[in-house]
Parts: sequence; C-alpha cells; structure tokens
Amino acid sequence: MGLFSSSTQSRLAATEPAPITGPLIAMRNLEKVFETPAGRMYVLRRITVDVQPGEFISVMGPSGAGKSTLLSILGMLDSAWTGEFYFVGHPVHAMPHKQRVALNKEHIGFVFQQYHLIDDLTVAENLDIPLSYRNVKKSEREAIVGDTLDRFGMVGKKDLYPRQLSGGQQQLVGVARAVIAKPKLLLADEPTGNLHSSQGREIMELFKRLNSEGTTIIQVTHSEENARYGNRIVELKDGWITGSEGAVVR
Ligand SMILES: Nc1ncnc2c1ncn2[C@@H]1O[C@H](COP(=O)(O)OP(=O)(O)OP(=O)(O)O)[C@@H](O)[C@H]1O
Ligand SMILES: [Mg+2]
Repeated sequence: MGLFSSSTQSRLAATEPAPITGPLIAMRNLEKVFETPAGRMYVLRRITVDVQPGEFISVMGPSGAGKSTLLSILGMLDSAWTGEFYFVGHPVHAMPHKQRVALNKEHIGFVFQQYHLIDDLTVAENLDIPLSYRNVKKSEREAIVGDTLDRFGMVGKKDLYPRQLSGGQQQLVGVARAVIAKPKLLLADEPTGNLHSSQGREIMELFKRLNSEGTTIIQVTHSEENARYGNRIVELKDGWITGSEGAVVR
C-alpha cells in the first residue's frame, strides 16, 4: 500500500501540534461501574496508568475485561466514570462535555471495534470528516482524501456507502479515517480483526511508521504478533490492570 506520502505530510504540517512535556495521559484510580438489575457491575477498577508521548501500547486481555470501555474513556467518548484523567496535563474529569468533544476532534483518531462509519456518507465523505475539523482548505482536503484512498487501495470504492462494503473493507476505511488527519493520539480497538493477515501486517507497519513520526498509539489486540509492534503491553482482566511489561518511552 505504501501508506502516506511525504506530500500528505507536508500538507498537514501546518496543523501539527507543538512538542509536549510530561505524560500525554495520566489516569489515577479511574473506575467505571454499571448499575444493573443484578447489582453494581464494576467494569474498570482503580486504573492508574501513565502514557508518555511517543509510546505505542498494546492493551490485551480476555473478552469482557474492559478494553473497549477503557479505550472509549481515553477517546473522551464516555464521561460516566470516576477518578482522575489528565490529557496533556488538562483535567478531563473536570471538563465540560463540549471541551472533551473539542479535544477528541483536535487530537484523537479512533478506530472502532465495530467500525462506526457514517451510514449515509460515502467512503470519501467519511474520510473527509476528521479533516473538516481541522483548518484545512477544501481543495487540500480533497487531495488528502484522494491520496489516502489511493494508499489504502480504495479509489474504486470512494463513492460507495458503508453497507456496500465487506467487513474488512469497512475496517480499512475506519483505519484510514482515524489516521487521515495525523492525530496526536491514535486509539485503535482490534484494528485488524477482520483483515487478511497480510493487510493486517500493512496496517501494523503503518502504525509503526506513524509512531516513529511522533503519534502516540494505544491499540487493543488479541494478537501477540500485533502486540509486538508496540513498546509496552498493558494487561487487563476483570477491569483490573494485571500487568504491564516493556519499556516506557520517555
Ligand atoms: N451498558 C452496559 N451495561 C452493563 N454492562 C456493560 C455495559 N456495557 C458493557 N458492559 C460490560 O462491561 C464489560 C467490559 O466490556 P468491554 O466491551 O469493555 O470488554 P472488552 O474487553 O472490550 O471485550 P472484547 O474483547 O470482547 O471486545 C463486559 O462485561 C460488558 O458486559
Ligand atoms: Mg472490545
């Protein structure tokens, strides 16, 4: 695929954030509870973790461990939790909804486990959304979408709607949408779960390259092979962090 040319990078250079110091993410005793008819269900328990800028973390653990829940909170998509969560030093726990949404739009790319493409937008229109949040001119956005479609081998699908794509193709569009605006933080929930193994490897190579260029990545994966692309593995079980191994990038 040869994903992302230097021309795409230079087009986006003007929107690149200034370097940051200190952790990108700090969570302290973060907990999430669901009240169900059967009683309180703890989904995340006393999560305390720091993520340094430039890390590439793989979150692993059994089904139901709370991985997607944690990723949604990291992506500012869920605000029903307790504890402390700082993003670049800003207290997310004290932030109004609007400000969380703004942080998400400006800094975060998200690959959803269930893709979550917008049904009534075409592939090209879905890819344009993250760019439309940035200060990028329409003509430049069209060029970036064109480049990206090309690199992901999806030029022929650009005018199709998500329901006209296979699961794997929807997943590729989901990955393309998450990375197209070069976010500071890329969150990816099983980003290769529905891809052929060679396509999966290309996506991991793309992540590795984006990471080497400065994007911090947190991916959820069941695959040991995918996890090895990162620098650290965080293990979750029954909502608890049960292990963290690998070097912390500083
Ligand atoms: N609305 C809800 N009400 C009650 N419990 C919920 C709700 N949403 C999620 N849960 C529970 O939260 C737990 C964690 O779910 P989550 O989707 O985060 O798991 P996961 O680690 O991503 O699993 P998988 O590997 O299967 O994707 C599960 O036990 C699930 O049943
Ligand atoms: Mg999940």
